[in-house]
Amino acid sequence: MSAFLKVSDMEFAYGEVSVLRGLDLEVEEGTISCVMGRNGVGKTTFLRNVVGLEKSSAGKVFMEGSDITQMEAYERAVRGIGYVPQGRQIFPLLSVEENLSVGLEAANTGERIIPENIFTTFPVLDQMRKRKGGDLSGGQQQQLAIARALVTQPKLLVLDEPTEGIQPNVITQIGEIIRSLVEEQGMTILLVEQYVDFVRKFAHSFQVMNRGRFVAKGNTSELDESMVKKHLSV
Ligand SMILES: Nc1ncnc2c1ncn2[C@@H]1O[C@H](COP(=O)(O)OP(=O)(O)OP(=O)(O)O)[C@@H](O)[C@H]1O
Ligand SMILES: [Mg+2]
Repeated sequence: MSAFLKVSDMEFAYGEVSVLRGLDLEVEEGTISCVMGRNGVGKTTFLRNVVGLEKSSAGKVFMEGSDITQMEAYERAVRGIGYVPQGRQIFPLLSVEENLSVGLEAANTGERIIPENIFTTFPVLDQMRKRKGGDLSGGQQQQLAIARALVTQPKLLVLDEPTEGIQPNVITQIGEIIRSLVEEQGMTILLVEQYVDFVRKFAHSFQVMNRGRFVAKGNTSELDESMVKKHLSV
């Protein structure tokens, strides 16, 4: 069986500065795959190329066997890619419900109703439907950002550092939520994450990026201290 998401030989530059230098990645359906790496190595740029917000200068992206390389970001969203950007980027002046409605636009189905299961998955958002996004705590905003990507019921969820700046109990909640999306709904997840314990606990496979190349990969059970020291510690 072919991988749910396949990236081959992806390259990208900001102007003259080469950032992605021939990346290959395969994510199996119904698994959580994690991209790790030090600050500035190109992780966010990679995700933005996967979701179509940047145009790669070379390489291909396949989803469920179809070539989506030429598709714009909105077409990829319609096709079933949900994206949670780094730093959450929720709308501070819009209410929780309004932020979620913005997420519905991405799927372009004309659907106007936020699926009720969003509020079962994130009970804290249910209590705060009318509150402004900017008045939520960091952890609540991260849950809102994830919920906003889920309202379109994506097949592939792409998250950029979901635990950044969040306290441990909310990190665990987020880990359990993404795990249940995979186990109960068969979703496929690609995330960038620097928090090694989180990766070990919740992800299935990992790849380490260094200066725009993947320099190590494997099953998260193989993510040992020597690897962390060599590729990840600062
Ligand atoms: N819009 C941009 N224009 C020019 N250079 C950029 C732009 N965005 C990022 N870069 C540069 O590209 C490189 C990769 O950045 P990127 O944000 O992908 O790294 P990252 O691995 O996600 O880092 P972090 O761990 O800090 O989030 C960095 O050197 C960064 O300065
Ligand atoms: Mg980043």
